[in-house]
Amino acid sequence: MHIRLSTLDPVLTDLPLLVLFLPEGIREPEGVAAAADTRLGGALRRALDRGDFRGKKEETLLLFPPAESEGGPGRFLFVGVGRAEELDAETLRRAMGRAVRVAEGLRLGALAVSWDPFWSVAPALSAQALVEGAVLAAWDFRELKSCPPEGQDGLPPPVQELTLVWQGEPSQVREGMRIGLAQARGENLARTLQARPGNLATPAHMAEEALRLAQRLPLQARILGPEELRAEGMEALLAVARGSEAEPRLIVLEYWGRKNREAPLVLVGKGLTFDAGGISLKPAQGMEEMKFDMSGGAAVLGALQAVAELELELNVVGIVPCAENLPSGRALKPGDVIRTRAGKTVEVVNTDAEGRLILADALSYAQEYQPAAVVDCATLTGACVVALGHVASAVLGTHEGLVEELRRAGDRSGERCWPLPLWKEYREQLDSQVADLMNVGGRPAGTITAAAFLREFVGDLPWAHLDIAGTAYGEGKLSYQRKGGLGVPTRLLVEWIRSREAS
Ligand code: BES
Ligand code: MN
Ligand code: ZN
Repeated sequence: MHIRLSTLDPVLTDLPLLVLFLPEGIREPEGVAAAADTRLGGALRRALDRGDFRGKKEETLLLFPPAESEGGPGRFLFVGVGRAEELDAETLRRAMGRAVRVAEGLRLGALAVSWDPFWSVAPALSAQALVEGAVLAAWDFRELKSCPPEGQDGLPPPVQELTLVWQGEPSQVREGMRIGLAQARGENLARTLQARPGNLATPAHMAEEALRLAQRLPLQARILGPEELRAEGMEALLAVARGSEAEPRLIVLEYWGRKNREAPLVLVGKGLTFDAGGISLKPAQGMEEMKFDMSGGAAVLGALQAVAELELELNVVGIVPCAENLPSGRALKPGDVIRTRAGKTVEVVNTDAEGRLILADALSYAQEYQPAAVVDCATLTGACVVALGHVASAVLGTHEGLVEELRRAGDRSGERCWPLPLWKEYREQLDSQVADLMNVGGRPAGTITAAAFLREFVGDLPWAHLDIAGTAYGEGKLSYQRKGGLGVPTRLLVEWIRSREAS
């Protein structure tokens, strides 16, 4: 999507559609809405007077200026934002997403939005949220539809242009627009990778995508294949991949935004391109969803793209272990014991608990960077969906400050996460008779024991883990989402990294 900034009078500019926001319960239009109402011959006032439009969140009202008025927008779209005193960035993101959906329905390729300074959301943040809402809403996955049936009865053409009309200082909103665009583009990259099915988005494909990012942006990519993985002693990653014809890859993407090799932030993402469960085979019902088991890895690639596009002044490394978990005559078996890169041995009681195995090797590799902090994200446990549903990711870690930073970044991005404890008692559930630890800890506290497993491989580093099993993909009920991969937690990660840049 192409984003422009205009400082002209919104009501006088020739545009096919101008979007304006209205809070709940106002009787008298103010600011730009008042100017629009004049243009509309008082139609907005009448709608408000009659209670036809009340300004509830995402309520919409489309009005057309009378034929005799020349110039100016062809249509006005008012979108409700709820109670003014409760207005926040997420409300704006959703309102803007709703506006893009309406523009889509009208088959308009371009729209404009104008807003008066909201006293509760700063200009830069509102610009960021509006751009995010629009760019996320405009995303669609069409690459596997033969001859896209756009036009008359087919899919609406994608919205391609957004003009932000801002009557204050341009410098108040430019940076917010830049951030919003990069964050949403990163999230859209994650969604595209998620949407690609397991036969296309293989570990090798994920690696190619990382290499493409490194060609275009100031990123350095290193790809480890089976031979390099053996040399690194990454037997856990190799063991998970052994049941599949698809070779594993470890993707490493480095961004050095500070020349002095200051300790980097390391992001690790689970890149399981298809999880059938292995010999501990999953039931057929819903198994197709397990193409989304690379969502953590997709979010890490999306976050690295955003960091590089924003040219942030810090160092960030992304590590994505990629493999496919299938049953076969060569596959890892329940009861097998493997030796991880870190040297710890694991009794694999259930081959469907494969995410923690590939993450164990990736987390131990991450330590080579002597990072300032490590954050991993993974569709790790069904238990997390039971605990928090589709509303929030779980966050667990060794460092309370880091967990709190992530929780706040979750609030700012609208991609919320909520803490679970990691007390040492949970680790006992992983005690093994034959090896250093088992890869499953039974049914109680499944999300926590999975995190307790990962903790064994992070040493003393500040580390936190996001379980995104319930949030990375789904029905896509928000205005700026579609059913399928949601790109979560890409924006959470970039918000967190940006907070580290500021401090
Ligand atoms: N990828 C799954 C977790 C998952 C479940 C993600 C549902 C999204 C939705 C993971 O590899 C897995 O299979 N976990 C097992 C662990 C169990 C065997 C301890 C699970 O949660 O059932
Ligand atoms: Mn599994
Ligand atoms: Zn999995």
